[in-house]
Amino acid sequence: MLIRKRIAVFASGFGSNLQALIDYNKNNDLNGDIVLVFSNNKDAYALKRAKENKIKAVFMDPSACSTRKQYDMKIIKLLEEEKINLVVLAGYMFILSHEFVCKFKNKILNIHPALLPSFKGAHGIKDAFEYGARVTGVTVHFAEEDLDSGPIILQEALSIDQDESLEGLEEKIHRIEHKIYPLAVKYFCEDKLKINGRKVKILNKNNSK
Ligand code: GRF
Repeated sequence: MLIRKRIAVFASGFGSNLQALIDYNKNNDLNGDIVLVFSNNKDAYALKRAKENKIKAVFMDPSACSTRKQYDMKIIKLLEEEKINLVVLAGYMFILSHEFVCKFKNKILNIHPALLPSFKGAHGIKDAFEYGARVTGVTVHFAEEDLDSGPIILQEALSIDQDESLEGLEEKIHRIEHKIYPLAVKYFCEDKLKINGRKVKILNKNNSK
């Protein structure tokens, strides 16, 4: 039986992907509910978006913990209390510990603003732009301990025009992100993602409710 998922979104900043997920769930159905927004940054605008949408918003100060493991153990406790089935990283700029990734193995999604494995890291859009790539895009993948490296769920490519500005490219990339992240989350919540090594099969892709 398909169980409705309890989703936690982790965000450190603006939270436009969080907003896209919230909006999608109002107009469609993810087969899940965003019940928690978590941040390592007390000023993250994402926390404000959560409150405006009556979603529990939690900030934990990393500097109050002496190790990353200690910090993540506190987060794990919170996620267990909230009975979280899926962690969605949406601009969470804090590396997850080994313990966290093991605890939520195959239950953490991440979005990266480039076509992985190209242009990993915190500046995927700018790096592709400055490199002179003709094509870039967006990747949604399962998160693993190594940064930007887990099995890929969805990718969408985008040509970089000759006269493109960085700002123009950023806008196009974010538009793609806001379109494909909700889809990937929905596939997860509908139990449609089957991982086989590096490959992710999407079952009955066109039969989403
Ligand atoms: C997005 O570009 C995402 O791909 C990257 O961080 C950015 C977060 O943006 N991981 P926002 O906070 O969702 O607006």
